[in-house]
Amino acid sequence: MSSKQFKVAALAGDGIGPEVMREAIKVLRAVEKKFGFTLEITEAPVGWAGIDAAGKALPDATLALCKKSDAILFGSVGLPDRDPTIPKDERPERAALLRLRKEFGLFANLRPVNLLKALSHACPLKTERQGDGIDILVVRELTGGLYFGQPKRTEKIPEGERAIDTKVYTTPEIERIAHVAFQAARQRRKKLTSTDKANVLENGVLWRDVVTRIGKQYADVTLEHMFVDNAAMQLVLRPTQFDVLLCENMFGDILSDEAAALGGSLGMLPSASLGATAGENTFGFYEPAGGTAPDIAGKNLANPIAQILSAALMLRHSFGLSDAAAAIENAMGKTINAGFRTGDIFNPNETSARKVGTREMGDAIAAGVHA
Ligand code: IPM
Ligand code: MG
Repeated sequence: MSSKQFKVAALAGDGIGPEVMREAIKVLRAVEKKFGFTLEITEAPVGWAGIDAAGKALPDATLALCKKSDAILFGSVGLPDRDPTIPKDERPERAALLRLRKEFGLFANLRPVNLLKALSHACPLKTERQGDGIDILVVRELTGGLYFGQPKRTEKIPEGERAIDTKVYTTPEIERIAHVAFQAARQRRKKLTSTDKANVLENGVLWRDVVTRIGKQYADVTLEHMFVDNAAMQLVLRPTQFDVLLCENMFGDILSDEAAALGGSLGMLPSASLGATAGENTFGFYEPAGGTAPDIAGKNLANPIAQILSAALMLRHSFGLSDAAAAIENAMGKTINAGFRTGDIFNPNETSARKVGTREMGDAIAAGVHA
């Protein structure tokens, strides 16, 4: 037992954000008691909630809170109905989420996909393709590539308009994310699949060269390169071949959603975004990989597991509380094994399954921590 204290900025955001955040905080309070550490959790508005409260997707007070916190637990931002009503640069995705990623230099995004045996039915693949289980860590570069490259604009041309996004990566940007991926592979099954489009893109050629060179420092890890289109196909044909899947920003955005579906639901996929000091006790940003899901928001229907597992990743990566993180992950596994299912992972043919709401799922996992 320790008397460690940590400051958490909890930014729930929009859509299902607030209701899944509530469950994550509930579970954090449960482990806090059991493992004897203290979290000072301060909530602040972001996204449309920020615009409504303070006129900006990332209010100054929210950013200031983040800066004096040890970690950010983030919900989700953006509302497709409202986003088009304001200029592109002010919309929550760009003005809050991407800004925070860039502001804190969070270049390494870890998205662990794990298909639990009990959720085999929720995986869209036939059981024979699921093998002994799907367990993939997507390592996504998060602060470069098409998301941030300049120029980025839409301009008028005689025929209409022309939209320009720029994909740009430098050697150091590729090196640092490659190190993160190789180190992660070392802790796992020691296989790294790096995706690129080296047959067409300059970026792909450089990516492959740099990853190959960095790979020489990790002789114990098997490195393979795969074109990203083939990787998209291999994920559904033979997902069990993957251990760590390294992707640049845009490819990682796309493949991590695809991989999330293999894990049963996007509602199950947490993520950790880390900066240059990645390792134990580092500042980090933790968010579910899914979005705001406005269609089910406020109805107690959302799966809170991605948010709860993101909180577990925060304990592990930012606070060095691996036991408490594992306690949350185990409680989640027990809750699933006991048949608790939110709508996204419910199958009426599962006789032992019970359809529950967001709150009931959170309650069960919090109780599981104590058990
Ligand atoms: C994600 C999301 C974000 C992204 C959106 C909301 C900007 O899809 O984290 O995967 O594209 O990075
Ligand atoms: Mg995405």
